[in-house]
Amino acid sequence: MKTDREAVIWTRIGMRPVKMGRIYVTDSECRVTYSEDFLNTGLPGIGILYPPEIIQQTTVVRPRTEFFDLLPPIQSLIPPRGEKNFQRQLVLAYLARKGIVPSRGIDADWEILMMAGHGGIGHLDVFRDDDKAIEWYEVPAKHTLFEISDKFGFSLKEFLTWFDDDAAGFIQIMGATPTVGGAIPKLLMTIPETGWTGRVGLPSKIGAHGVTDVILKFEQTRSYPGIIELEALALDIHEEAGFEVPRRWKAVINGIPTFVIERFDRDGNCNPLFTETLYSIFASGDNTVTNPYSTTYDAIGRAIDRSPIDLVTDRKSAKQYLLKRLLFALATGNGDMHLENLSIINRGNTLAFSPVYDPTPMRAYSIHNMLTPMPFGQYGEVPLGEALLRFTRNLGFRKNYLLDLIDDVLSVTRDYADRVRALKSLPDRNRENIVSIVESIKSELSACSKIT
Ligand SMILES: Nc1ncnc2c1ncn2[C@@H]1O[C@H](COP(=O)(O)OP(=O)(O)OP(=O)(O)O)[C@@H](O)[C@H]1O
Ligand SMILES: [Mg+2]
Repeated sequence: MKTDREAVIWTRIGMRPVKMGRIYVTDSECRVTYSEDFLNTGLPGIGILYPPEIIQQTTVVRPRTEFFDLLPPIQSLIPPRGEKNFQRQLVLAYLARKGIVPSRGIDADWEILMMAGHGGIGHLDVFRDDDKAIEWYEVPAKHTLFEISDKFGFSLKEFLTWFDDDAAGFIQIMGATPTVGGAIPKLLMTIPETGWTGRVGLPSKIGAHGVTDVILKFEQTRSYPGIIELEALALDIHEEAGFEVPRRWKAVINGIPTFVIERFDRDGNCNPLFTETLYSIFASGDNTVTNPYSTTYDAIGRAIDRSPIDLVTDRKSAKQYLLKRLLFALATGNGDMHLENLSIINRGNTLAFSPVYDPTPMRAYSIHNMLTPMPFGQYGEVPLGEALLRFTRNLGFRKNYLLDLIDDVLSVTRDYADRVRALKSLPDRNRENIVSIVESIKSELSACSKIT
């Protein structure tokens, strides 16, 4: 028997929760329709390329592919498929305890979406039906903060036990970072708004006070020793370079190095802000985008410039941001600035790149040692300096603009090697990897002024 799947999308991006529309998934298509009441609110929609004021009540129809069963902004709420994905395993384990064991593929994705597709990163909340939505929003937020102690273990089993006596809270916590890739465990939590003290609570809901939403990232010391310190250093450098960077704290929980990062997809009152990754935006606009690497930085610049629907409010500063981010990614050995590591948020009716997240110098780990995950300026066919110049010109900027930026980058990162060497938890080999990679890129960058 084949039955179409049906669900509803809500959001609390406005003053109160409102139903955005409904989703139908058939054998071959995903169909989404905005609801009339939502259209009257004037709020931003599901994704940048699905503007309610243009789409109105016309059903958006997207053929299902092996890459996307759902519209990309909705698919982003589901943790990626993969045996090792922590969020996915956590939800599947919880479902199994309730006797639900979906088959792999869309069946499992759908059950995960119904259970954990709300309260996560961004502004979209998906539920099985309106009753479920209303029920979820009605349960008041619990803002008890727990001392993180030995009870807070890190195995799946211990985690489940910790939440055993609070099923509602457990379900809420399942909203944990839905777009996470790879196996690095992350949890959504709240901490006191004044900052990290070792106490955590469940993610905020309506009417939260005195707390702020954060992501807890736990280090997987075996695969990525020292990654927390490296990410923290990279964020410091981006902040020194003038980028907006969320507040953050390093902590050790039960012996596990942990990074606590304030969420930028919530405002000062813990209300969601419209948030979308470039991956979701690009995949919405182009069915040939099938993974977070399937474009070029030049194409991102072109899309910013030419999209008939504004991706950002200030195109020029968005392109400047992109070029500067690329230069810092190169000069810090990031190698991982893909479409899911760049997001657009809407604050005060202005669409712009979000604060910086995940600029981790992944090239420290040999399996991730590549210059960039996406091409720019025909790099490969031409040397680095030439490629940067072509990319700069494709963005509509002059050579001198690039050269000034390079000066900035070299100056902000001048003692980067020493700072990397001072990291205590990063093994020597990884330190030396990153130092030598970065030194050689920086010398190529310094040579750029000679290019004509
Ligand atoms: N401070 C933040 N506020 C809001 N959302 C965030 C924040 N940091 C990360 N995110 C969201 O969570 C997702 C995963 O976070 P992040 O990229 O830091 O983790 P990751 O383990 O490196 O993931 P991946 O390996 O897929 O790159 C991001 O793509 C972004 O959508
Ligand atoms: Mg990431």
